[in-house]
Amino acid sequence: MRKQSTLNPPLKWAGGKRWLLPWLLPLWERASTPRLVEPFCGGLAVALGLNAERALLNDVNPHLINFYLWLQRGLVVRLHLANDKELYYAYRARFNELIADPETAASQEAAELFYYLNRTGYNGLCRFNKQGAFNVPFGRYKRINYVQDFSDYQAVLKRWQFTAGDFAEIQASPVDFIYADPPYDVEFTEYSQNGFTWDDQVRLAQWLAKHPGPVVASNQATKRIVELYRGLGFQLTLLDGPRRISCTGDRTPAKEILAVRNIT
Ligand SMILES: C[S@@+](CC[C@H](N)C(=O)[O-])C[C@H]1O[C@@H](n2cnc3c(N)ncnc32)[C@H](O)[C@@H]1O
Repeated sequence: MRKQSTLNPPLKWAGGKRWLLPWLLPLWERASTPRLVEPFCGGLAVALGLNAERALLNDVNPHLINFYLWLQRGLVVRLHLANDKELYYAYRARFNELIADPETAASQEAAELFYYLNRTGYNGLCRFNKQGAFNVPFGRYKRINYVQDFSDYQAVLKRWQFTAGDFAEIQASPVDFIYADPPYDVEFTEYSQNGFTWDDQVRLAQWLAKHPGPVVASNQATKRIVELYRGLGFQLTLLDGPRRISCTGDRTPAKEILAVRNIT
């Protein structure tokens, strides 16, 4: 069995799939393909967990990808990092200044600020207003253990290729192992909060169904997601997701789906 990486995901990222690794690892090993492709790499929990030798990792969020590109260069954060409300809003304003221009958006300073805002902002959220400005409020954490030296990530991340864009722009080779973890389908909404619509879910499932190599997709097991992937010939496994505590105190886990193709 391939060894898991000892590196933890460097950011807080919504929808992290570390909990899914016990199901993903055997599929990855069975497929035994040379490269992992993740169209929605998010916080890197899966790429780090599978410890892929080669990977193509994509996300639509260019600031997230810029941070990873700096990790590839052995990022050591120079900024002073502190869990302080005034500093947070000053850094947020500076980040918004930098991302307004594509040249400075790709700078080391923008990558450092992105890390700081991710750790210090409310719930690790990453949200932008219509003008494209990051608008997450201060997080009010009691304590934050900031990392300044990310040089341990360099050796692993420099073997991987990163791209920022829509999943459909990815050039996968026929033998690649694709693991797709899109934003969850939220039933009964045409336009989900995070901008990934039902049309996008359909576009993704059809795009995945065309891949001749191994494919695994995860999602919330809504009725329409189950029908969509079943209709396209995927093999489906229903899983209990991580436990959630709803406002009623109900701890029933949400059902998740794993849709698999071309892995025997
Ligand atoms: C559920 S998260 C992935 C989490 C990841 N598997 C992990 O373990 O950390 C979904 C990701 O999809 C990205 N995303 C949303 N729309 C996208 C699109 N059209 N193309 C590519 N990525 C997109 C979001 O930025 C987010 O990082």
